[in-house]
Parts: sequence; C-alpha cells; structure tokens
Amino acid sequence: MSLFKISPYGLREKKGKEVIVASTAYDYTSAQIAEAAGVDFILVGDSAAMVMLGHEDTFSIGMEEMLLFCRAVSKGAPNTIRIGDLPFLSYQVSKEQAVYNAGLMIKEGRCHGVKVEGGEEVAEAVEAIVRAGIPVLGHIGLTPQRAAELGGLKVQGKTIESARKLIKDAKILEKAGVFAIVIECVPAELSKVITEKVNVPTIGIGAGPFVDGQILVFHDIVGLFKRFRPKFVKAYFDGFGAFKKALEQYIKECKEKVFPSEKESFSLSQEILKELLE
Ligand code: KIV
Ligand code: NA
Repeated sequence: MSLFKISPYGLREKKGKEVIVASTAYDYTSAQIAEAAGVDFILVGDSAAMVMLGHEDTFSIGMEEMLLFCRAVSKGAPNTIRIGDLPFLSYQVSKEQAVYNAGLMIKEGRCHGVKVEGGEEVAEAVEAIVRAGIPVLGHIGLTPQRAAELGGLKVQGKTIESARKLIKDAKILEKAGVFAIVIECVPAELSKVITEKVNVPTIGIGAGPFVDGQILVFHDIVGLFKRFRPKFVKAYFDGFGAFKKALEQYIKECKEKVFPSEKESFSLSQEILKELLE
C-alpha cells in the first residue's frame, strides 16, 4: 500500500472552484472519522499539545510526540492528504534543522507535507524545505508559536501596518513555494484581500467566509474540548456530553448488575461445569 498516491499540490487547483475543508486529527480513530467524512486534508496540529496532552499552549510539544500522532493519523487516514505541524523550535534554529525535521514528518510520520508558522521570518526555511521535495503549508495571522511576541492570542491585522505586513507575508510565502496558506484570527475583509492577492489557496480559521477553505480543530467540531472555546469555533455536536452520558450509563449498569448480561458473557458446557463442581 502506497501512502503517497496523492499530493498537497493538487489542492491548488481547487482555488476559486471549490471550498477546501480540513480538520485536524491526532490519532487513528479521529483520522478514520475525518477520512470517512471526506475532509480535503488533515492537519496533525500542534494543538495536540492542548487537546491530547492537556498542556497550556503549543510550546510544550516536540517532534517526538508529533511524530507519534502523525504515524497514528497516517494509519487511520491512508487515503487523505496529511500535513504534519512542525512544533516550536523544530524549524526556527536553522534551515538545516528545518529540512531535517520536515523530512522526519514524511519519513517517520508518513505525512504528505508540513506546516510552519510565520511569514517573512520563515521564508528561507520554507524555501529549503520545498527544495527538499517536501510540500509546505504556510500559517499567518495568529501564530500561537509566536504568542510571546504577539502578547497573547488575539485577532491580528487590525492596524494598517499589521494588515500590510500580513499581505506581504502571504506573497512572500507564495514565492517561497507553499501549496496553501492558513490564515488564523484575521478580520474577514483582510483575509478577502489576501485571498485575492495570492494564487495559492487560503485556508481560514477565524478568518471569515471570504477565503478558499476552512479548517477547525477536530475536538472543537465535535464538542469534546471544554477548557476554552474561541469565538470562531462552531461545535456541531456535544461530544463531551454524549460520551459522558454513555460512561454514566455504563457505571450505572455495572453497579446495578445489568451489565454484563448473558449476551456479553461466555458460557461453559453443563457437563464440564458439573464435573468441575464434583
Ligand atoms: O495546531 C493546529 O490545530 C493548527 C490549526 C488550528 C490551523 O495550527
Ligand atoms: Na498549530
């Protein structure tokens, strides 16, 4: 079975024709669900730090953990484009390290490409990764790995200077060879301008409707993550409530000796039982 029958570059053809819809996934089961539902691509996001590992932010996750999640997703969604999110410090130190870690996402994570956060600052790394034959997804606007610089997680591009910088960053990333650009937490009008100014698809999260595609975190879509819910999230299911109810019912039936019943039990033949009790 080849995992590489599809290429992220195919997504570029959808720009202006079809809305690209993506979700994150982190394990075998969520990847199977995302593939069965028919997402255009899966991002194994470093948001795994929060929703899978319970960390405060994305600074606390590294390559080793990301590769574990990538491998599981690749097994669960063998026929879907899978992008591995390069974690903090895996691509900022040097171009060489960026290429090496991006390569691990392909070689060990069995992903089709990688995502890096930032614009002009990461252009050289993006170029080097692309030159190594590894497709790159850009990410501008609210970039959580730069939270220390941004002073928290807030909407980006609200001033004329920052809006101009985002447009410039998008163009620089396009030139560096990205196959698409994630735009996070940016006013809808600005993401529209960016979308019109680049020839690669823009994938929005908290970026309004005037982009080429949308992405959300799996746990947010199905209502499994309770700690916080950003304004841009729409939950399509109360997963936490539904799963909790199932577990409550399981506990109740065990306590009341309703479960397991004969249906879920194995039985011994009467002759053997009789002999055993003699
Ligand atoms: O880590 C992540 O889930 C992301 C998406 C929200 C774009 O970077
Ligand atoms: Na991320």
